Amino acid sequence: MQNITKVVIPVAGHGTRSLPASKNVPKEMLPIYNKPVIQYVVEEAVRAGIHDVVFVTSKEKTALEDYFDHHLPLEEVLERTGKEELLKTVRELVEMVTVMSVRQKKQLGFGHAVLCAKSIVQNEPFAVMVGDDIILGEGSGLKQLIEVAQKENKPVIGVMEVDPKMVYKYGIVAGNTRPDGIIEITDMVEKPSIDKAPSNMAIIGRYVLPPEIFNYLENGKPGYGGEIQLTDALNLLAKDRGMLAVPVKGRRFDAGDLLDFLSVNVYFALQDPKMKEAMHSRLESLLKEFSKLKEFSNN
Ligand code: G1P
Repeated sequence: MQNITKVVIPVAGHGTRSLPASKNVPKEMLPIYNKPVIQYVVEEAVRAGIHDVVFVTSKEKTALEDYFDHHLPLEEVLERTGKEELLKTVRELVEMVTVMSVRQKKQLGFGHAVLCAKSIVQNEPFAVMVGDDIILGEGSGLKQLIEVAQKENKPVIGVMEVDPKMVYKYGIVAGNTRPDGIIEITDMVEKPSIDKAPSNMAIIGRYVLPPEIFNYLENGKPGYGGEIQLTDALNLLAKDRGMLAVPVKGRRFDAGDLLDFLSVNVYFALQDPKMKEAMHSRLESLLKEFSKLKEFSNN
């Protein structure tokens, strides 16, 4: 397989799970610890060697493109006031990636969003990332998938085991697990009910795909939720030319889920040497306070 140089990140959605916080601020710009969600996703792509980012966007989401571009008045102030470290941080964002964008003019589903990137991706294999999924760990996520795709010259998607009660939230794959743990996919279903799920192996939002996927998407019929689903197109592609699912290492957080969103903030604070002790003792005192309140209300 050719080198993967582009990643498509659909970001046109309204982010209803994060309302009201996402009413006027794109959900991808909500901060986790000291960076917006989108930066974690883009950094994972960069760790995988990708520097061309294609946002499939809408007119409410221009902040994402601006974030990876210069902010000259701010840089000028930082320079004048000698805030070298901050200046370096904001300039590094600009150097990190080249952003391209295409509008998704109608919200017809995740598969439709990927299809919108066809004119930019053209005839090359490419990666897709879901902007809500944050995967942590050196070498985890997209990098793992690209290594397998290049070695085996096959489309590859990332999967993780989930609680069987949660299968209705994900695309679910069925297949034969090889001795190295990689799954040869035989079937895929988008958001099945627990009794219809072929397994509890969920697609997390990471894919390495050949350009042929666009033909399947162009002919795609509305699927789950009346939308053009990427999973349905992948299922047909898998049946025609084979597809591998790689169990992704590392820790995954869903930034659109409030509990995950809160936990990942605490996770990063506990990882930061400058913050970890203060965060630890703050958490301890909050928990103590909370259990006292509970005792009080139980009496
Ligand atoms: C999309 C995919 C689904 C996948 C999920 C991972 O769903 O359609 O197959 O499991 O991303 O986050 P969405 O979360 O956009 O509804």
